[in-house]
Amino acid sequence: MPGPVLVFGASGGIGAALSRRLRARGATPFLVARDPGRLEALASELGSAPFQPADVLDAAALRAAVGAAGPVLAGLAFCVGSIPLKPLARTTEADFLDAFRLNTVAAAMAVQAAAPALTAGGREGGAPPGVVLFSSIAARAGFPNHAAIAAAKAGVEGLALALAAELAPAVRVNCVAPSLTRTRIAEPMTKSPQMADAIAKLHPIPRLGEGEDPAALADFLLSDAAGWISGQVIGVDGGRSTLRVKG
Ligand SMILES: NC(=O)c1ccc[n+]([C@@H]2O[C@H](COP(=O)([O-])OP(=O)(O)OC[C@H]3O[C@@H](n4cnc5c(N)ncnc54)[C@H](OP(=O)(O)O)[C@@H]3O)[C@@H](O)[C@H]2O)c1
Repeated sequence: MPGPVLVFGASGGIGAALSRRLRARGATPFLVARDPGRLEALASELGSAPFQPADVLDAAALRAAVGAAGPVLAGLAFCVGSIPLKPLARTTEADFLDAFRLNTVAAAMAVQAAAPALTAGGREGGAPPGVVLFSSIAARAGFPNHAAIAAAKAGVEGLALALAAELAPAVRVNCVAPSLTRTRIAEPMTKSPQMADAIAKLHPIPRLGEGEDPAALADFLLSDAAGWISGQVIGVDGGRSTLRVKG
């Protein structure tokens, strides 16, 4: 009997959309984020999903949340992150370290803590459980003012590949790299309709992402249908990272 899928950042725009999808296909999302009220609201919307408030920057709280999810996990998604934007001249060492701690190191610590439970399922002949980490279009396409987050998310992509190799064949690890998606962390870029519209037009498929866009891919990567997919970084970005369209 597989256990829950541990969803860090479950109350966020992408994490909540993923949790709803997991529930809809009969999996159990185990919800983790800091704000207990938002977790409780999502848990009751999903029909009493298990949840535990935790700050992923607190190592003991992170391990306690993983422990509370139980001895067997069917998967893990790390949907926590930040979008700190500043010109390099104003980006401090602390900005780089903060971005790296939250986006990269905390993701590594989450997988480290969960690895025993992810490998405990013993799914003989079945698909190995999946881990999904979140990078960003900014890891592989250069944008001004993105030095701290681009460096941290490039670290997430390297981390995903290293973990995919190290945990094979027991666990699959993949990475989703969204472009600008309408969620709380993106509000500074999306709240002005003019700015949102201008950024939308930079995408060959000319709109901003919705939480559902990356969540749909994450859900697929966590499912048995993706049982032979590991070590991949996949953009959910309206084609912006790879396409040039006629002007
Ligand atoms: N939205 C975009 O444009 C975009 C673009 C590229 C990549 N991404 C990546 O996509 C992933 C999901 O982001 P999102 O857009 O869904 O953001 P979001 O809506 O702001 O959600 C972030 C989630 O993480 C939780 N969280 C934040 N800090 C935390 C901490 N220290 N400990 C535990 N939980 C924490 C938040 O809940 P609490 O505040 O209650 O803790 C929330 O549940 C992130 O890795 C992000 O970097 C997003």
